[in-house]
Amino acid sequence: MVGIYFSGTGNTKYCVNKFLEYYYNDINKVESYSIEDKRCIDKIKENSTVIFGYPIHYSDIPIIVRNFIKDNSMLFKNKSVFIISTMGLFSGDGTGCSARLLKRYGANILGGLHLKMPDCIGDVKVLKKSIDKNIEIIKETDDKIKITVETFKRQKYSQDGLKFINHLSGLFGQRLWFYKKTYKLRNKLKINYDKCISCGKCANICPMKNIRMIENKPISQNNCTCCYRCISNCPKKAITLIGNEVIEQCTIEKYTER
Ligand SMILES: Cc1cc2nc3c(=O)[nH]c(=O)nc-3n(C[C@H](O)[C@H](O)[C@H](O)COP(=O)(O)O)c2cc1C
Ligand code: SF4
Ligand code: SF4
Repeated sequence: MVGIYFSGTGNTKYCVNKFLEYYYNDINKVESYSIEDKRCIDKIKENSTVIFGYPIHYSDIPIIVRNFIKDNSMLFKNKSVFIISTMGLFSGDGTGCSARLLKRYGANILGGLHLKMPDCIGDVKVLKKSIDKNIEIIKETDDKIKITVETFKRQKYSQDGLKFINHLSGLFGQRLWFYKKTYKLRNKLKINYDKCISCGKCANICPMKNIRMIENKPISQNNCTCCYRCISNCPKKAITLIGNEVIEQCTIEKYTER
């Protein structure tokens, strides 16, 4: 069994690894790969069961994840896939969005798990919580993962987000209102050059190679997947996307390494 994930600010990586850690009871057996890591292709081929994780973006799959599934559709034929979606508050059918796609490509969907984690939209005030509150949220999520793994071991798979009613709530609760929202945000990344010190960190860590250093200046190529990684890691808080000011830089280490 292998974990395959996309994670902008670390929440999903944390959850997929926790799932595998509880499953094996041995951290050394945990094997997980980001879809940014080329080795993930071979790892999917080698394993019959995949724990597939991603964050929810406006009750939908991030662009980078949808592209990954489509570009590698053949890999999922006959694979058993258990889907984990992480979210700041709510997603009707976060797991269902990829389940429908993966099923089309021949995957056997075992189940789904929705996990509440700290909200990572660092340039919008709504949903921001204290560090202590976020630590509490992660603790509750840990407990949910643990219980889910216990039942998973008995081949009873949780079905969060996979039922028809979830499809309706994802669609009418959010997707219709935010129709193709992340696609519309693709070219909206803002870099404040008065603050920027041209360190190049954003360009190095962007999973889409959307930021390029051109003549020592970071420039967005209008191909952003809205993952908030650069916004959360810029040493000068010079990058914003939805909002206009960085309120909090959200990375999982803030809550787990205290
Ligand atoms: C562009 C964007 C849209 C989001 N939309 C939702 C949403 O619809 N519902 C929700 O509960 N959380 C939403 N979130 C919060 C993330 O899903 C959540 O913080 C997630 O755990 C981040 O995971 P990561 O660190 O692995 O990227 C959104 C985050 C971003 C960046
Ligand atoms: S990480 Fe921030 S300071 Fe560094 S190049 Fe990017 S925008 Fe500029
Ligand atoms: S530009 Fe920033 S927010 Fe957009 S994909 Fe790259 S790292 Fe993520």
